[in-house]
Amino acid sequence: MPKQTFARLPGFRDFPPEDLAFREHIFGAWRRVSVRYGFQEYDGPPLEPLDLYVEKSGEEIVGQLYHFQDKGDRKVALRPEMTPSLARILGDRHRSMAKPIRWFSIPHLFRYERQQKGRLREHFQWNVDVIGEEGVGADVEVIAVALDGLRDLGLDQGDVHARVSDRRLLGAILSAIGVEDTRLPIAFAIIDKIERTPADRSLDRLQTEVGLDEARARSAFGLLDQGGLDDVKSEFGDLDKVGVELERMEEYIGSLQAMGLGDFVDLDLRIVRGLAYYTGIVFEIFDRKGESRAICGGGRYDNLLELVGGDPLPAVGFGMGDVVLGELLRELDLADPVSPEVDYFIVIIGEEHRELAYAIARSQRDKGAGVQYALREQPVRKQFTAAGNAGARQVIVLGPDEVARECAVLRDMASGEEREVPLKELR
Ligand code: HAM
Repeated sequence: MPKQTFARLPGFRDFPPEDLAFREHIFGAWRRVSVRYGFQEYDGPPLEPLDLYVEKSGEEIVGQLYHFQDKGDRKVALRPEMTPSLARILGDRHRSMAKPIRWFSIPHLFRYERQQKGRLREHFQWNVDVIGEEGVGADVEVIAVALDGLRDLGLDQGDVHARVSDRRLLGAILSAIGVEDTRLPIAFAIIDKIERTPADRSLDRLQTEVGLDEARARSAFGLLDQGGLDDVKSEFGDLDKVGVELERMEEYIGSLQAMGLGDFVDLDLRIVRGLAYYTGIVFEIFDRKGESRAICGGGRYDNLLELVGGDPLPAVGFGMGDVVLGELLRELDLADPVSPEVDYFIVIIGEEHRELAYAIARSQRDKGAGVQYALREQPVRKQFTAAGNAGARQVIVLGPDEVARECAVLRDMASGEEREVPLKELR
């Protein structure tokens, strides 16, 4: 029979030790920064009821679900994002909890996407959410956590920046331009895709689907394309509805400046976010060169908890994936490969000393040292090569003459220096 081979599924990854070490390096920064800001870690099941996502997450993500019917005829889906699970978990559990709730998680997520740079069919995503606080302070807190997570990994404002907007501000501006309330969702959908669509096509859609005349469509397009905070202020700041929204945005950006993060943040009205549930400030973080897809995306979603059957509670948070971030860190030489900690490699000369090696290893490991040795009898030269390959800092040589004198030779692998140490110090 021909030998069967199994290829890895497209869009999925293996994690051999060096890749797992890199992944852990990223997770380590994510956890450190979460804890620094007082967030607590949680998790949920990777498989959820299909209905948790339908009509809540938005068409794009629902089209990418891995879903099936289980043996109990339940329609289930692998989680494509964490936010609906978080909303479900907090459903009524939140009642006994002090607000605001500060939770974080690093779930493994699954989306059947077209595979491309920065996009796989599984990824890990750092989620940080504040639940139960409607003030802009919560919006400031979560984006600050995201930016500090990136800073902890060695990225600064020259490498990454956050593009921020507010669906309420954009809605107020679009209303001022003459877009009817019922057409706002379609206007948002067009703007969300504006950077990936030829200009003519977007202009055409703003007229035919949103109902703007050509002049207004062009002025909206111009504002979206180049408008910063000052442009929006000078053009629309006097209008009551826009003015209120602008004040909130100014407070948000001002707070981030006070935290020393102002240089990371730019107002950009093209950021709408594809997911259906956002209601307020939204943001995405990109590499400065603008070559990659978003590293991170998030925002305020004040209706989702109620939508999944819980009490109405304001919420804001973000998700940061490990794929685009990992690519960027590697490009910038910030991958920081971590090698295993081997403090001692014990070279055994003569198998009669193997049990002595085990006793030394036991004692040193109990003290927290990393210890390795050959798992079967080997020539001395091979054992030294193995010690080098393992990256051992020191080698303990158990030779017959030294052991007879209750000693061992300790060799420093970097300097090559050797000295004798009494066995009782090692055992
Ligand atoms: P999202 O924008 O769909 O938001 O995903 C957030 C980040 O996850 C993206 O910016 C990207 O880095 C990463 N990501 C998403 N899909 C993939 C993929 N197929 N392959 C690799 N990386 C990917 C959410 O999921 C929201 N639930 C985030 C959130 C939390 N909003 C509030 N709280």
